[in-house]
Amino acid sequence: MPEPNTTADVSVIGLGRVGLPLALSFADRGLSVIGIDNDPVRLSSLREGTMPFAETGAQELLERVSASGRLSLSERVVDAAGAKHIVITLGTPSFSHIEIDMRDIRSALDDLLGALRPGHALTLRSTVAPGTTEFVAGYLAKHRDFQVGEDIYVAHAPERIAAGRFLEEIDSLPCIVGGVGARSGEAVAELFSVFQAPIVQTTPVQAELAKIWANILRYTHFALPNLLMMDCERYGANVFEVIELVNRDYPRGGLAQPGLTAGTCLRKDFAFSEERSNAPGMLLAVSRVNESVPLFLVEGIKRRLGPHAEHAPDAPRATAGEPTSMNLGALAGRKVAVLGLAFKADTDDERDSLAHKLIRLLERELADVVAHDPHVATPTASFEEAVQDADVVVVAANHHEFCDPAALATIAQRASADCLVVDPWNCWGAGQVFAYTSELAVLGAAKA
Ligand SMILES: NC(=O)c1ccc[n+]([C@@H]2O[C@H](COP(=O)([O-])OP(=O)(O)OC[C@H]3O[C@@H](n4cnc5c(N)ncnc54)[C@H](O)[C@@H]3O)[C@@H](O)[C@H]2O)c1
Repeated sequence: MPEPNTTADVSVIGLGRVGLPLALSFADRGLSVIGIDNDPVRLSSLREGTMPFAETGAQELLERVSASGRLSLSERVVDAAGAKHIVITLGTPSFSHIEIDMRDIRSALDDLLGALRPGHALTLRSTVAPGTTEFVAGYLAKHRDFQVGEDIYVAHAPERIAAGRFLEEIDSLPCIVGGVGARSGEAVAELFSVFQAPIVQTTPVQAELAKIWANILRYTHFALPNLLMMDCERYGANVFEVIELVNRDYPRGGLAQPGLTAGTCLRKDFAFSEERSNAPGMLLAVSRVNESVPLFLVEGIKRRLGPHAEHAPDAPRATAGEPTSMNLGALAGRKVAVLGLAFKADTDDERDSLAHKLIRLLERELADVVAHDPHVATPTASFEEAVQDADVVVVAANHHEFCDPAALATIAQRASADCLVVDPWNCWGAGQVFAYTSELAVLGAAKA
């Protein structure tokens, strides 16, 4: 294989939640690494030795790697060509047109084009729509006349880790490599062989499909109990009891639990299939189910709180000719504590979290919303401040701190008398999406 004239082993472009732990892990295995990001705040945080986000074990890893001198940092994408291997871990959101937005990838390719030499190996680690790896290879062939797979290598090696488990899963999850042409797969497998995980070679499009369909499976898996939760409200049934009936001692069960299903990956990866689907709309419907959970919770709260005091049936009514007062909804002026802003339990990642959508919907009902999250960087009220005198408490993310029975006891003590507790996660095992603190106290006593 040709070797480019380089000074480092690997460059990682995009030091986000995927790229940064990966760059640190390469350096920890003894490779010399160039980490590239165009966010100066992120780079200065790294230069000071501070992780810009939470990832289990990553702070210690950063300190170890910083001391080793094996990681250098740059803001310029073109500097990535100083390593034989170039790994792209840039964000790939979807447009509202249900189509991949690959502007960051295109921009990085354009920056790199003039600097690429025979022997360079380009790995797309970002999640991409089917066909993107072949597009990238075609782009290099078109603009630089490279024989991809012979004198330069391009492969998709999708990241499949879950946030918070990177350092554990990088050595255990099979690493899928879909190389273009004869030798790209082999070149990229050589890079990832520094980890202990098995490497599985396939075609580029199969690697792309395997990645997005893993997320489509999860997104759909959680949409089913979410739809069932909404159906149960209509039929006056208890979703947790129905799920238990489905699953108990039934070999073909396996229905998941409801919740607020979102996050950057799940919320957009389905769009990469949907953009040219054989069943257009099917996965969009899955998305609409998950996206409608916040509205379902708000409507459920409104139904239980009943009409606003000023509009209760016995409230004085305007007589003919008198100006009518504004029609305030059930939530107007009521204090609602939202527990959790992150998109899932025990992470500080708020991107594409449905908690924010829930808050927006509550605020549109003129509720007084106070949020608390012990994990995220966004400043929030303390737990005690949030639940103090609350009329409603909603568990939006099932962080372990909330699932402690002591948290429920604090709510019962501090919230307003008979506060409505909304817990689609079944954090406290009460088995009720909507319940008043008095009902939860009875349940707690029964369990004790
Ligand atoms: N977050 C996850 O858990 C996860 C898991 C699996 C796969 N993925 C996929 O991995 C990819 C990256 O996701 P992420 O969560 O790490 O994204 P991210 O937004 O956290 O990271 C992207 C980084 O790239 C930087 N950047 C953007 N444009 C740049 C440019 N032109 N030049 C240099 N740097 C630039 C940003 O500053 C940011 O630090 C996405 O395709 C995502 O779908 C993410």
